[in-house]
Amino acid sequence: MINHYLSDGILKILLNRPEKKNAFTNAMYRELTQILSEADQNPQVKVMLISGAGNSFSAGNDIADFMQSPITHEDAPPINLLKVLAGLTKPLIAAVDGVAVGIGATMLFHCDLVYAQKDARFIFPFVSLGLVPEGAVSLLLPCLVGHQKASEILLFGEPISAEDAQALGFVNKVVLEPSALPYAEQRAKKLAALSLGSVLRTKSLLKGGELKAAILKQIDIEGKLFIDRLHSPAAKEALTAFIEKRAPNFDELD
Ligand code: COA
Repeated sequence: MINHYLSDGILKILLNRPEKKNAFTNAMYRELTQILSEADQNPQVKVMLISGAGNSFSAGNDIADFMQSPITHEDAPPINLLKVLAGLTKPLIAAVDGVAVGIGATMLFHCDLVYAQKDARFIFPFVSLGLVPEGAVSLLLPCLVGHQKASEILLFGEPISAEDAQALGFVNKVVLEPSALPYAEQRAKKLAALSLGSVLRTKSLLKGGELKAAILKQIDIEGKLFIDRLHSPAAKEALTAFIEKRAPNFDELD
């Protein structure tokens, strides 16, 4: 469900489960983690570019998977993926069409360049699912936009347009064409033609050292809370409500 191929130094990765808006199963987390880890070590890869099939980036964690095999430990597939993303030394570009939800949105904070089609929507639905944010977004988002804007985004989990995401600073450019991918490919080509040594050192200056350590620590802190919340009555109600296509009722649920 994840396709990838290398062409002229660019590793193109496609999340390919369009019938479920590219929602991540545990198998997809493992696959993507392995693809990214190997690409980061492969001298032929200069740039990685990720996009989603069928006019969606990703609807986040598969909700049925959350219910059938909820994560119980800190080296679970989604947490491992987030750590590998946060530790990448090579540049990762995202082309976002359609929805980027949950981990589909938080993973963008570990991409170096994000291009979004004008109708893209970004959703951080953690609190509305009875959960807490992940992917160190509780650290990176307030650093980017300030405490109050981050609270608005993370508490209410309302959809954010591509234009607003650009204004907030986590999208580089809003693409008016039907897909953001061709523009992202042009940028990837331009990046791949630069000196890899300079690109890698610049990325490490921007997101290495103490910042990387703080991000990895926050992923661990959030991970523990996330696992705890995933087993809460509130999360069970919210996830069941999604499957049953109804609104959740949090009355008297913590
Ligand atoms: N897990 C499992 N299935 C999902 C999914 C997810 N995270 N997101 C979407 N799907 C499925 C839908 O159930 C639907 O399946 P069906 O056709 O068998 O009924 C299909 O993908 C299409 O989704 P749909 O809801 O009809 O599309 P939409 O454009 O109206 O809405 C979303 C798209 C992403 C906004 C909406 O599907 C949604 O809110 N999904 C849940 C996202 C989420 O909470 N992720 C977890 C974050 S931690």
